[in-house]
Amino acid sequence: MNVGLKTQILPAGEAATAAAAHCLAQGGLIGFPTETVYGLGADASNADAVARLYQAKGRPAFNPLIAHVGDLAAARRIGQFNAQATALAEAFWPGPLTLVLPKTAGCTVSDLATAGLDTVAIRIPAHRVARDILRAFGGPVVAPSANLSGHVSPTTAAHVQSDLMGRIDLIVDGGAVAVGVESTIVGCFETPMLLRPGGLPREAIERVLGRGLAGVPELAAHESAAPLAPGMLASHYAPRTPVRLDAAQIEAGEALLAFGPLTVAGSEGAKAVMNLSTRGDLNEAAANLFGYLRMLDTKGAHTIAVMPVPHHGLGEAINDRLRRAAIGRA
Ligand code: TXA
Ligand code: MG
Repeated sequence: MNVGLKTQILPAGEAATAAAAHCLAQGGLIGFPTETVYGLGADASNADAVARLYQAKGRPAFNPLIAHVGDLAAARRIGQFNAQATALAEAFWPGPLTLVLPKTAGCTVSDLATAGLDTVAIRIPAHRVARDILRAFGGPVVAPSANLSGHVSPTTAAHVQSDLMGRIDLIVDGGAVAVGVESTIVGCFETPMLLRPGGLPREAIERVLGRGLAGVPELAAHESAAPLAPGMLASHYAPRTPVRLDAAQIEAGEALLAFGPLTVAGSEGAKAVMNLSTRGDLNEAAANLFGYLRMLDTKGAHTIAVMPVPHHGLGEAINDRLRRAAIGRA
């Protein structure tokens, strides 16, 4: 384990960008903001650094990582774009979309980071701080969400600190993220597939492709399963407190994660109530989701009851993460 490292925390800015690029070049690990969630970055081409990253996160090494790059030219050096991939990249990059593509012959992303697959997941993030760091470093940076494996993803630098302090070298604090759920992952296979719903709604992608996306594979029941997106482990986003979905009524001792007008019975008796969006806005709800789950996890409730969330737009990603939270930790 990397435990015992001194973790430096710097506010986003020129000094932090330079320190982050230097740290990556030395094989170090950095927590940094993207528009979706905070990432835990390492030099994608440095297998030792990637091994340390898996250790710091406590993540199983067969779970491949997303390579973050600064522009389309850099993306084309590591992944082979078909017509559909090009259309999606042009429409949505930089942004909360990850494309899974066949690796190029010259792909520098280490086999450890791709878990030995002949495909690579690529994203150009939109966050200014992430882009500055990528430009300063100059190569692909692999970055899973900057939380301990199985925990809720971090949407603030404080969340990163609480999971990874003493396990990584540097945290760049760029404030709270805008989107709040991870990127949407599309497999650019012969039939394009939605591998993970996320911060870019399915509807927007289907409009560009001019066709429907094949559905998300069923949740893998066990970590030993090898689904198409191996990271889609059933218990990927669990708080410690058990989660109950589609609550119409609150029992004594429960905390409530609400959405829209408070229509549930018994909410006055809840240990704590947090509303993802009182006005029923799914984008606002996505941005609040992981922070509120973390918060409700500290209230001593025996269960977190969750009101129903509509399934369109970012609702698909929100419901996906909530379902995983409800399955609990393996
Ligand atoms: O928004 C995001 O995507 C954030 C930020 C930091 O960019 N990153 C993130 O990474 O969510 P992570 O490691 O938590 O999720 C990466 C997902 C996993 O489900 C993994 O299995 C999948 O991407 N993945 C990576 N490479 C793949 C590949 N070659 N084929 C299929 N799935 C892949
Ligand atoms: Mg994650």
